Amino acid sequence: MAAPMRHEGAAAPGRVVGAPGGLEPGAAPYGNFPNYSRFHPPEGRVRLLPSGLLRRLFPARARPLLGLDVGCNSGELSVALYRHLLGLPENEASPDQLVVAKDLNLLCCDIDAALIERAQQCSPFPASIHYTTLDIMDSGARESSLSNFLSRFGRSTFDICFCMSVTMWIHLNHGDNGLVEFLSCLASLCEYLLIEPQPWKCYRAAARRLRKLGRNDFDHFRSLAISGDMAEKGPMLVPQCSTRRSSRLTFHAVGHSAQILYRYGNAF
Ligand SMILES: C[S@@+](CC[C@H](N)C(=O)[O-])C[C@H]1O[C@@H](n2cnc3c(N)ncnc32)[C@H](O)[C@@H]1O
Repeated sequence: MAAPMRHEGAAAPGRVVGAPGGLEPGAAPYGNFPNYSRFHPPEGRVRLLPSGLLRRLFPARARPLLGLDVGCNSGELSVALYRHLLGLPENEASPDQLVVAKDLNLLCCDIDAALIERAQQCSPFPASIHYTTLDIMDSGARESSLSNFLSRFGRSTFDICFCMSVTMWIHLNHGDNGLVEFLSCLASLCEYLLIEPQPWKCYRAAARRLRKLGRNDFDHFRSLAISGDMAEKGPMLVPQCSTRRSSRLTFHAVGHSAQILYRYGNAF
């Protein structure tokens, strides 16, 4: 179990031009690239989600709705999601903080403390987007951090959870069992789970980058039984992961290459 970490950041030797953040990409073994959003801009990705999604999913649910963004990096995607879900214009500098906080509160977590610090410093919605350093695979820390947040709203679960470009890193670092455990855990924590899985070619590329640095391969890469594009594996994983949750759990996947790949249920 990896402890929440600080990366060596921009000061790390061996920079490669064109790598996210200018950091040698193999040196970000959790996908904790600084400036990730410059390479995968959030706006185009969030626009794939229908406008009015929250109203459709939760027409009668008391507000504020609660969301969890796992692996938020430095928060750019979290903010873009927040704006998109509430229909706030991208450039509106300061919508009324208290008004938006009554609609939707997000807890965003990342294993990398330096990224979280940056997210906190840059947040345009400090009253309603909350950032915390957390290794989501650390059950003790997860339980304490999430229940601490939820209890402030008198709740025990989230309405919706976002897992964007994170599953590969969990899979590579924790293996098949870790991935299933991760998805099951998220499924038990929320009603709707939105997943943007990475394609298999990204797995190969990540393992290759690490090898080039002369570092050990991801522990589990060669022994993964769940392999191939996760967007195709999703349908098989869902029943496995949703057993602990009511049948209202829905698993949506948004493609890494900017398309909605498939969906379950009739929520979208
Ligand atoms: C590729 S980035 C995706 C960032 C953002 N979700 C997006 O799509 O723009 C993956 C993020 O997951 C985080 N991460 C990886 N393993 C994690 C874990 N066990 N717990 C929390 N965050 C993790 C990394 O630090 C990294 O910031």
